[in-house]
Amino acid sequence: MKAQKKIVFVCQNCGHESGKWFGKCPACGEWNSAVEEERRKTREKWAEGGIALKQPRRLEDISDSEIERIGTGIDEFDRVLGGGLVHGELVLVGGDPGIGKSTLLLQVLSKLAERGQAGFYVSGEESEAQTRMRARRLGALAKDLYVSCETDASVILNQLSELKVAAAVIDSVQTVYDPDLDGSPGSVGQIRECGLKFLNFAKRHSTAIFLVGHVTKEGAVAGPRVLEHMVDAVLYLEGERYQNYRVLRAAKNRFGSTNEIGVFEMSQNGLREVANPSRVFLSERDSSVPGSVVVSSIEGTRPLLVELQALVSRSGYGFPQRASTGYDARRLSVLLAVLEKRMGLRLGSMDVFINVAGGMRLDEPGSDLGLVVAVASSYKDTPVKAHTATAGEVGLGGEVRRVSQIEQRVKEAAKLGFERIIVPSGNLSDVSSIKGIQVVGVEDVRSAINRTLERSRVEKKT
Ligand code: TYD
Ligand code: MG
Repeated sequence: MKAQKKIVFVCQNCGHESGKWFGKCPACGEWNSAVEEERRKTREKWAEGGIALKQPRRLEDISDSEIERIGTGIDEFDRVLGGGLVHGELVLVGGDPGIGKSTLLLQVLSKLAERGQAGFYVSGEESEAQTRMRARRLGALAKDLYVSCETDASVILNQLSELKVAAAVIDSVQTVYDPDLDGSPGSVGQIRECGLKFLNFAKRHSTAIFLVGHVTKEGAVAGPRVLEHMVDAVLYLEGERYQNYRVLRAAKNRFGSTNEIGVFEMSQNGLREVANPSRVFLSERDSSVPGSVVVSSIEGTRPLLVELQALVSRSGYGFPQRASTGYDARRLSVLLAVLEKRMGLRLGSMDVFINVAGGMRLDEPGSDLGLVVAVASSYKDTPVKAHTATAGEVGLGGEVRRVSQIEQRVKEAAKLGFERIIVPSGNLSDVSSIKGIQVVGVEDVRSAINRTLERSRVEKKT
């Protein structure tokens, strides 16, 4: 096998590759981001993976059992994967440093091992003893769980071939390197080449491989993102550093939907599944405080009740502040403009702060109505009626628009003891009557706010 050496220039910001040097990256516009890298491309290399050499097959000859799933025994994790792990799947697990990626994956491997699927945990960041200590704390000392602190990719691949495990974790992809390549561990070129090696291995040996990648919130560490198009699934573990909940989301999934989320709670003994997130997210809510609204949103196939909080206060500075946690800032500006124009709320001289409780993120149109009600509630200093939830999209004309899966949203609210839910009137015909909950249809934001806030104080103030 004769390797041809080839020099390429790679943008350290976006991973763009070019045969020529560039001062400004033609893809992302970043200056001075080109780094020289050595590439070895051989035909044999592609054949090695066995991918290109396979004969084409008739679709109908392929049996469904070829994507048989392995349940990890952690339902919240399986849900995000699309119903379990697929043999030979390559998964990138990203997230901020310290968010809990190593903890989660060690738990996953140990659960798999308990079910007879041996696992291999490669830690480039912690020693074997440290990993053992962590595993003991997590109750993850399964018998068929191997560990190694190797960072040389070819050695890891040899170990993988020897062990023949069902699943492996490479923690993290920023610490592994290929000694035949220039560039330090963590550079775009190293990450890509190592990623390709693991991809080939996973497909050839039907070993599921998780690659851990540290990604900061701003996405500043571009490295692991070059793997996104190569892997079968990209999962992100998110949450606020000082809050106890962690949400696992799929940004890409070749074997399932990307809408599903998995919710976990942190504990001394590792991440615990939260089977009924709505109840947990609402447990600390004080419904008599103005500005607090419950949104019945849909995350994937699952309805989820989330508390949305707004705080509107007179601005002390010339320029009013807008800040949001867990809510899209641009969507917030649009909805504030709608409130200003259609309801006459004078928000131009007010600071507006939005918070989605529990470290959740709301980015589904059905949460619009909740947001306008929360802002109006805080502005008017009037609480939302007790036991009331909301779901609806808000248009620029102030009209309340239909949302999907309304029946599920209403049912979830009823299940959690809500007595009233405010929905778009256009959705009323989609909901059958559900015991214990009154479904109130509204046409526009004005009627929504009037029907959601406590009456007496609204009248007094407006
Ligand atoms: P860790 O899994 O090491 O994060 P990452 O791999 O994403 O950098 O977790 C960070 C720290 O938090 C670690 O000291 C263990 C601790 N931790 C818990 O004690 N309980 C938990 O449920 C989680 C997720 C983490
Ligand atoms: Mg870690």
